[in-house]
Amino acid sequence: MRIAGDDAILVLPAAPERIRSRDTHYPYRQDSDFWYLTGFPEPQAVLVLVPGRAHGEAILFCRERDPDREGWDGPRHGPEGAVDSFGFDDAYPIDDLDEILPGLLEGRTRVYYHFGHDTEFDIKLIGWVNRVRALVRSGAQPPHELLELGHLLDELRLFKSPAEIRMMQRAADISVRAHEAAMRAARPGVHEYELQAEIERVFRMHDAVPAYGSIVGAGANACVLHYVANNAQSKEGDLVLVDAGAEYRGYAADITRTFPVGGRFGKEQRALHDLVHEAQAAALAEARPGLPYEAGHEAAVLTLTEGLLRLGLLKGNLEKNVAGGTYRRFYRHKTGHWLGLDVHDVGDYRIDGQSRLLEPGMVFTIEPGLYIAPDDTSVAAKWRGIGIRIEDDVLVTRDGHKVLTARLARSADEIEALMAG
Ligand code: GLY
Ligand code: MN
Ligand code: MN
Repeated sequence: MRIAGDDAILVLPAAPERIRSRDTHYPYRQDSDFWYLTGFPEPQAVLVLVPGRAHGEAILFCRERDPDREGWDGPRHGPEGAVDSFGFDDAYPIDDLDEILPGLLEGRTRVYYHFGHDTEFDIKLIGWVNRVRALVRSGAQPPHELLELGHLLDELRLFKSPAEIRMMQRAADISVRAHEAAMRAARPGVHEYELQAEIERVFRMHDAVPAYGSIVGAGANACVLHYVANNAQSKEGDLVLVDAGAEYRGYAADITRTFPVGGRFGKEQRALHDLVHEAQAAALAEARPGLPYEAGHEAAVLTLTEGLLRLGLLKGNLEKNVAGGTYRRFYRHKTGHWLGLDVHDVGDYRIDGQSRLLEPGMVFTIEPGLYIAPDDTSVAAKWRGIGIRIEDDVLVTRDGHKVLTARLARSADEIEALMAG
């Protein structure tokens, strides 16, 4: 509210419920911005922040108590419970929103709102603004600026508070255990969905849910970056790539490990795994305050290119290969992203055309990989169909960084030891 200023008003609806099939819904996930500011878990709610308003600045509209509905869908807080338990200054029934909101908009010059998320709500908001406009001749002052809420909130969400970091560490710890369970359950012939089940069992055992669709790709399926079918059977000699993270109290972890279903890396598998691990270490060395965010990606790319030349997967000299971006044949994605309430979290990566500098409290992933397509006849057959990614979650601290997921086996030796144990 301080950043928005006293002539502003902020409007944030809760996430809508979504139908999965006929009359059943997808599991409800609260909107990240709404959750960040309220901690209120219910759908059909709207937060309105009115800086400087004498009769209360933080107003919630939510569903009223309804014993009959609550018998079907579970308890609701109701406006009174919302004030008592969540600290809103005031709360009203959601059905009164239409009547009350135009009055709150009147006299405020700027409206902060996230356009384009929820089309139905976009239209309602425009309707409320129009209702105030219609009263101009009776002296009403309609808002005349509609601003992107993200500009304001994303920058706050990018810097994690100590309480948020505790939650993210918990999400990371649960995810580490889940990956360990998957490694222990691996054996030649295991289906991808069996490993997914191990992982998500551990999430649920610790009151967490998947932060995104778990990716479990055996053999060449590891080369599909957003593989989600998870229905193939592994075979002797396969690696399996598992990209899965828990969401705990809304906060995501995001981990990838690639391990041999039989417990031992083959020669080429190990060579590529070592190289990806080396690239991750190079990127990690760039994770400290004052360095550009993009330095990590550049370090990873340089290491990968050097290694691909050394292994004979690329030809020619280093300079030309780096300049020409030849690594992109085997590494199509960036080395990471901000992490928080959203797995690909909010926050600008560049400011005024330059990579932004790292600051304490930022959390991001470091996830280099190499993916040799199974039909890539330009490389020796022994490399084809190998896909590897290593992904960890990193907090920037005052004097460097902390890897939130550090406890999980990472090198080929560590993984083999864990699987043998
Ligand atoms: N799991 C999505 C990602 O690694 O970005
Ligand atoms: Mn990621
Ligand atoms: Mn991931």
